[in-house]
Parts: sequence; C-alpha cells; structure tokens
Amino acid sequence: MQIEFAATRPGGDFALVVPSAGTSRPGVGSLADKDKIEAALQRQRFEGDSGSAAELFVDDGGNTRRLLVVGLGKDPKPGASAEKLGGTAVSRLLKSGETKAVIDLSGMDFDADSAARVALSAALRAWRYDRYHTKLKDKHKPTLKTVTIVGAGDGAAQRWKGRWEPVAEGIDLTRGLVTEPANIIYPESFVDRCRELSKLGIEMDVLDGKQMKELGMGALLGVAQGSVRDPRLLVLRWNGGKDGEAPTAFVGKGVTFDTGGISIKPAAGMESMKWDMGGAGAVVGAMKALALRKAKANVIGVCGLVENMPGGNAQRPGDVVTTMSGQTVEVINTDAEGRLVLADAVTYVQRKFNPKTIIDLATLTGAILISLGHEYAGLFTPDDELAEKLLKAANESGDKLWRMPLAEPFDRLIDSPIADVKNVGPREGGSITAAQFIKRFIDDDVKWAHLDIAGMAWSDKPSNTFDKGATGFGVRLIDQFVADNLEG
Ligand code: BES
Ligand code: MN
Ligand code: ZN
Repeated sequence: MQIEFAATRPGGDFALVVPSAGTSRPGVGSLADKDKIEAALQRQRFEGDSGSAAELFVDDGGNTRRLLVVGLGKDPKPGASAEKLGGTAVSRLLKSGETKAVIDLSGMDFDADSAARVALSAALRAWRYDRYHTKLKDKHKPTLKTVTIVGAGDGAAQRWKGRWEPVAEGIDLTRGLVTEPANIIYPESFVDRCRELSKLGIEMDVLDGKQMKELGMGALLGVAQGSVRDPRLLVLRWNGGKDGEAPTAFVGKGVTFDTGGISIKPAAGMESMKWDMGGAGAVVGAMKALALRKAKANVIGVCGLVENMPGGNAQRPGDVVTTMSGQTVEVINTDAEGRLVLADAVTYVQRKFNPKTIIDLATLTGAILISLGHEYAGLFTPDDELAEKLLKAANESGDKLWRMPLAEPFDRLIDSPIADVKNVGPREGGSITAAQFIKRFIDDDVKWAHLDIAGMAWSDKPSNTFDKGATGFGVRLIDQFVADNLEG
C-alpha cells in the first residue's frame, strides 16, 4: 500500500475519511450534502466517541462516495488520536472494495508529527503476510492501494519520510521474521534475511557454532546442541554517533523454535513457539529503522539465534555448562533456555564492545503473561534513571512497559548446590528470577534493563497498528529510546 500527502482532495473515485472530534467534524462541513450527513450520523447515534466510526454513502459533487467518519473523542490527543484515525481507516477499508482512500485532516489542528503518525498507523495496519495462501478468494484480498492524506499542513510529509516511514519498514522486517514458521526461519536463514541491512550502512558480523565454541559460550551452545540447525550470533553495528562514543547495545533472544528441549512442552499451543525469536526480531527491525533514518547514535544489536530441540545430543536436566563469563550453570530445566542464550550474548557484547548500556528484549517467561497479560511488557532494571527513560519511551511509542522488581532475596533463589547458579527458581516470581539470572552476567559498571516481551510479540486480536499476529513490539520502543536519549 502506498502512502501520499497532498494539499487538497483529488478528483475521481475514492473513499473519504474524516475525523470527528466529538461532534466537531470540519471534513463533513465542507461537503455539499452536510445537513443530510449530519442527520444520518445523528440517526445512528454517532457522537464521535473515541473508538467509534460510522460509514455512509453520500453524494459528493456527482460522485457517490463512501464516507467514513472516525470518532476521536471530544479532546483528541496528539499522536494517539492520529494513530487511531489512520488505523481505523485502514482496518475498515483494506478489504472494502475501495482502492483509494483520502484522509482529510482539514480543520483538525494536527501538528506535523501527528499527521505523519496518521500515515504510520495506516501503513502498520495494512501489513499482512499472505505468502502461504495459494487459494485466497478475491473477496478476501486487500483492495486498498493508496492512502492520501490531505490538509496536513507543512512538514508532515517530511516527518513521515524522515522519521516514521523508516520505523514502519523496520517493523515490517520484524513481523515477517516473527510470522515465518520455524522450517523457514532458523538461525542461518534468520541471518540471511538480515543481509539486506548491510546495504543501509549497518556493519554485520556473524559467529557460527564453531566460533562460539572457541569463545567458550557453553550456555548458548548447550541449548543449540539438541538441534541439527547450527546456532548463530548476529552482531549489527550502526555508527551514526560521535567517533569513539561508547555504544548502547540491544540484545535479543532469538530462539527460532522452542520445543522446551528434553523438558519438553505440551503439544497444545506449541506452534506459537515459532515466535520465541520476537526479541531478536525487534532488535533487527529497530536497527533497520535507525539506519534508514540515519540516527545520530552508536548502537549495537546482538541476536542469540538457536533452536531448542530434544534430540540424541540434547542437553539433559542436571547438566552443568560453563558460560563465556566463566560462571557455571546447572541446567535444571531445558525449557528455561532463553536466559542461557542471553547470558552468553550479553557477556560477548560486554567483552567485545564495552557498551555503557545494555537493554535486552526476550520472550522469556510464561509467568510475565500471568502478571501483565497482553497490555505491558515487564521492565526489570536496578537503575531508576534508566527505568524512567524506558517508561517515557514506552508512553511515547505505545509499546507499553510496567516496571517489575529485582531484589537480592530473589537472587538467592537461583543459587545451585553444584554450580554457581541454576537456570530456574521456584514457580512463584518466575519472571523475576529469570531477570535475576541475566543480571548475574552484567558487569557492575554497565547500566542494564531486561524487557520480558512474552505477552507482547504476538496478538490474538487486532489493534490500531496491527492485525492478529506478529505485532513488532519493541521496534518503536527502541527507536524512541534512541531518539530521546542518544541523539542530539
Ligand atoms: N519461550 C518460553 C516463554 C514463553 C511462554 C514465551 C509463553 C511466550 C509465551 C520460555 O523459554 C519458557 O519456556 N519459559 C518457561 C520457564 C520455566 C521452565 C522456568 C516458562 O515460562 O514456563
Ligand atoms: Mn523455553
Ligand atoms: Zn523460550
């Protein structure tokens, strides 16, 4: 789908979308039939509440026009209401038979950023993955080809091109990776799909199993050893900041399929473990966004890519592995594999790049769904200042976070009788002990936050910015965090 900005409404056929701030809707006022339209809206009790929408066919200078009036509430909020508008327009019109939509912002006082975010949400909401549908009926195919935004005022088109289109493209990459089944996306093919990033000026290093063995990454390799797929460590570098300035690192859990290993998961629902690489997917999507918009920051993205399978060579409960940090781990449960992968990934990035801050993203625990459901990802950090910054970026981006605790008593729960640490604690507080485990691999002078995104990477219901399926959670959060704290 194509997105354009124009000064005025074009001629010809299109569906017209106008926002309604409560009962104020300047876009309707400009139509010849406005009195009839107002009467029709009243008759269906449309009051422009946020989340409501009304559709009618009207006569517009001789054209029969589909008119979609989207309620934004009496007091539209910059950004959020704009995204409601773009998302509602596309979700309603994508398969409506209309090929063109015009969203008219005239009289709405949207600033350039809000107008550009109408475009962003429209683009995001139009994303779909039909690659494996070979028998899709025409009726179920999208018809909408162009969205034109008019009445947006100066700077909106530029803001879209320079700030939000890159983010939309990053999210597309993430969603594609997350959506693909695990026979298509595994460590090696994940890396192959990211090769395009080097054309954008991102430097890329890839470690294979043999190289990781030389570095002593026994925890990550222990997870990988039950699979015939060789693991990869993908390292992406964007040097848009000052020469020599210490980078910020984003580290993603990239378990391309999580069967649980020998501690195997139940069959029901196991297919969802194809998206256990959602953290890694967010990291590469964010790197793409940052490179496309030429972010003035030094950022590193690291993805620990493995497949967690049971097999003749799989690791067993009770095995002790030695991590790259030198610490030993008793693997009590092979299904607590994400933290094992992250332990070596964060050690690697610290040894190699000396980042001042590390933020890891991982679909780490089922327990975080019990705590926070599908509304917030869990934020774990000992650093109040970093927590504030991340919570701010979360509010601005819509990728919501809720801070969870870390504390010494939780740390004691993962002491092992035979090794330095064990990979699971008791069931209670399972997301916290998982975070405490990662913390043991973070150097004292490094600021660190862990984001447990298990409830957020995939959605069973549509929103403003996504249909059912892969959400792309984390891309906007990282992008916003970088924009707020590392640039300028
Ligand atoms: N990938 C899962 C966590 C997960 C669960 C993600 C549901 C998305 C949806 C993770 O590797 C896992 O299996 N965690 C275990 C940990 C347990 C064995 C301590 C869990 O949450 O049950
Ligand atoms: Mn697991
Ligand atoms: Zn997992």
